[in-house]
This record gives sequence, C-alpha cells and structure tokens, in this order.
Amino acid sequence: MILVTGGAGFIGSNFVLEWCRKTASQEAETVLVLDALTYAGNLENLHAVSEGGRFTGQVLFSQTDIRDVKAIESLAKQHRPRAIIHFAAESHVDRSIHGPRVFIETNVLGTLNLLQWGRQLQDELGDCFRFLHVSTDEVYGSLNHDDPAFCETTPYAPNSPYSASKAASDHLVRAWHHSFDLKTLTTNCSNNYGPFQFPEKLIPLLITRAIEGKSLPIYGDGLNVRDWLYVDDHCKGILRVLENGKVGEVYNIGGNAERTNLDVVEAICSMLDGLRPKASGSYRDQIEFVRDRPGHDRRYAIDASKIRQELGWTPEENFDSGLRKTVLWYLENTAWVSRVQSGAYRDWLKTNYHSDSTGLANAVNP
Ligand code: NAD
Ligand code: TYD
Repeated sequence: MILVTGGAGFIGSNFVLEWCRKTASQEAETVLVLDALTYAGNLENLHAVSEGGRFTGQVLFSQTDIRDVKAIESLAKQHRPRAIIHFAAESHVDRSIHGPRVFIETNVLGTLNLLQWGRQLQDELGDCFRFLHVSTDEVYGSLNHDDPAFCETTPYAPNSPYSASKAASDHLVRAWHHSFDLKTLTTNCSNNYGPFQFPEKLIPLLITRAIEGKSLPIYGDGLNVRDWLYVDDHCKGILRVLENGKVGEVYNIGGNAERTNLDVVEAICSMLDGLRPKASGSYRDQIEFVRDRPGHDRRYAIDASKIRQELGWTPEENFDSGLRKTVLWYLENTAWVSRVQSGAYRDWLKTNYHSDSTGLANAVNP
C-alpha cells in the first residue's frame, strides 16, 4: 500500500489516476488517499477510480486532517503504507497573503505529523520505506530576467507566506533525513496546469472566466514569468523519483516552458477563438490589467537537468500541447466547473456515499 496525502486535490488526484493507469496491467497495489477535503479537495476528481461511487477497490479514502495528531495516530494503527507521497497543503499564494496561519499549521505542522508517522513506519517496515515530499520552486524566491534557472543547490529565499511555509516543510524533511535517517525524497516543481485544477489558479481561472464572458484579470504589467508543466508530466516525474530517486536527495521538476502571464492569456484566448469563436471580436477583448499582488515574484524557472540525467525523466507535453488538452478538458467538463463554482462539489460525499463526512472514514477503511 502507498499513502497519498492531498489525493483529492489537483495534483494529488491526477497522481492517483496516473498510479491506477500505470498499475492496471500489473498486480494492483492499494492507494490510501488521505485528505481533509478543504475547499480545494474534491472527491469527484477520483470518480473514475471509485466503484459505483464507493472506494472499495484499489483506492481507499480517509477524510483526515494532517494537523490532527490523534487522527494520524489512529490511522497508523490501521495501515502500514510502504511509502507516503505527501501532496496535502494549502497551495494558493493569494490566500496565504490574506490568511497565513492555516498555511503554517497545515504545511509545517501537518508535515511534522507525517514525518513522525514516517519514522514509525520505517522502524516497522525497514529501509525500503520512502517519504516523498512534494514541494515547489517558489521556495527559491524570485529570479531576474537574466538569472540562471533554479537548480537543487540554489539558496532558499521564499517571499510569500505560502512559499515560506513550503520552505519550512522542506527543511523539516531534510532534517528528518539527517537526524533520523528517514528515507526521504523531495521534489521541487514549477507551476502545474491541467484537468481538475481549482479555478482560482491562473490557467483554469482564465479559461472559465473567458467562456463565461467575464474579464480576464492580469496582475500588474503581466510580465511576470512562470515555468509551466503539464500535470501528468509532474506525476510521472514523481513516480520516477519514488521508484529510482536516491534517498535524501532533492529533484527539481520543470517544463522548460517559461511564459509571461500575458503570453499565457494570449495563448488561451487564441485557442478559444479557434475552438469556440465568439459572435464578434476575440476573447482578448476581455483582458483587464488589475492591481498587482503584494510581493509578486517576478520570475520562476527550473533547471531540470538532474532528474533528466539521473532518472531519465523529460516532459512529454510542450506548453502548446498541454494547454490545448487543458482548454479542451475545461470546455468538455463544464458540469465539474459549475459544481465547483456553486459549491455543490462539497455535497459529493453526501450525494455519493449517503453518509455525512464524519462517517466516511469508517465506511471506507476496512
Ligand atoms: P490543491 O490545493 O489543489 O490540493 C491540496 C489538497 O490538500 C486538497 O485536496 C486539500 O483538501 C488537501 N489538504 C489541505 N489541507 C489539508 C489538511 N490539513 N489535511 C489533509 N489534507 C489537506 O494543491 P495542488 O495544486 O494539488 O498542490 C499539491 C502539492 O503540490 C502541494 O504541496 C503544493 O505545494 C505542491 N505544488 C503545487 C504546484 C502547482 O502549480 N499547483 C507546483 C509545485 C508544487
Ligand atoms: P497562480 O496560478 O496563483 O500561481 P503562483 O502564484 O503560485 O505562481 O499565479 C500564476 C501567475 O499568474 C502569477 O504570476 C500571478 C498571476 N495571476 C494573475 O495575473 N491573475 C490572476 O487572477 C491570478 C490568480 C494569478
């Protein structure tokens, strides 16, 4: 069994789907998804791997908050996963500026609780145990236009409460490896996009607002740069690190696809102009420059040569192919989008499990 924290969120759910695809032809190893189902967690994302609306097959689910030590201890009495793949986090920079406390509680203290469970698991299972910590390139801070891309030895310089909390969690993982010989692996990845991303992040926000005829808000001058990676490629990189990564090491994962936010909005508008033309004009007409985010990092870029050279990973999608898949997914999944926007996705538990959320963990944990 492997444990995936945050498996009902954007990247975590894509990882679980990828895991099930990859192991479909082999002997299936169970995935235990642990997720608190915050606003960002959506069990509908895992519908394809539940059976008749129930998690009774390869995928099990436990609604558990990683901040809750007692809940983790009780889970530890029931399950002995050979690996923890840790995605669960508060992940949105703008929210971290408005309310930083929960970022420290979940991203730092929650990671501490899982690391302690990891030590116990390693004592029981031996050195084959792995703790894979999923982190971000934002811990390295902001690059100037001509700076070289972030590599694994770039000094940490987080600038937002989100990136500071992720940096703190990375340091805990590093310390647990050095002090307790915990078999850790850390990945620091660039901005992801793809199916099931909550429409508060740039790409799904722009796609959904564009088709609703709303303004497309671009912070500041729109020249901030991000290095975009299609989510499936990130998940495949994580699998590669889990299988073959060297214990205690850090691997940067990136798409080699630096784009300004203006490049991104223009690419989305021209795809939509082709796929779903407006009665008149272009989606570009909806672009609106708005007040900048405080402390807005100017540029992120990842040097992914270590994972490429040591583990043979490269992204399969380029920005155009990945963006096309993403735009098509949002056009084809308007029901998912409207359930997220209306909040109806939060009733998924009740509707599909005939249980309130507190009963679910008991219902699905054998
Ligand atoms: P997300 O916000 O879509 O999902 C986070 C998931 O964690 C949700 O399902 C949520 O319910 C769960 N969660 C939050 N607090 C919890 C708690 N206290 N206990 C249990 N579960 C909790 O995030 P994402 O974009 O899928 O990111 C996943 C991980 O990848 C994060 O650690 C993030 O820092 C990292 N990351 C994200 C990106 C990106 O571009 N999205 C890039 C690099 C790294
Ligand atoms: P976001 O998706 O929030 O990811 P992050 O801040 O973690 O990189 O934002 C990506 C970029 O898009 C970032 O430079 C901020 C910018 N942005 C906008 O211009 N408008 C928006 O409405 C949002 C949400 C983001």
